[in-house]
Amino acid sequence: MNRVSNHPILEEERSSREVQIFVDGKPVMVREGEMIAAALIANDIFINRYTAHKHKPRGIYCAIGRCTDCIMTVDGVPNVRTCVTEVREGMKITTQQGTGIWSEEGRQ
Ligand code: FES
Repeated sequence: MNRVSNHPILEEERSSREVQIFVDGKPVMVREGEMIAAALIANDIFINRYTAHKHKPRGIYCAIGRCTDCIMTVDGVPNVRTCVTEVREGMKITTQQGTGIWSEEGRQ
C-alpha cells in the first residue's frame, strides 16, 4: 500500500472503514472518504487514462482538480476528475480511452 501513515504535519493517519470498488472489473479495497486517485495509487494503480490521439498513459498530475490528467469513467460517466472525487462503495471505475464513452449506467 502506498499511503503515508505518519505525516509530520498531518500526524498519524486516522483509520477509516474499508469499502469495495471495482476498477476495470476487478474488486479493490479502499478507504471510505478518500479520493479515487489516492485510493488507486494506494493500490499500485497509476494509469487513469490513455490520450485520444497518441494513446499515451496519463495519471495524477496536479492533484487539485485543475489539469484533467486524472480523468476516468466512473459509474458510466466519462471525464470524472478522480483526484477530487470521493470513492463510494460499489463504484465502478474504468481506465478511460481517449475522450471516453457514456454507458447506459451513466445516463441514468
Ligand atoms: S490530477 Fe489534475 S485534475 Fe486531477
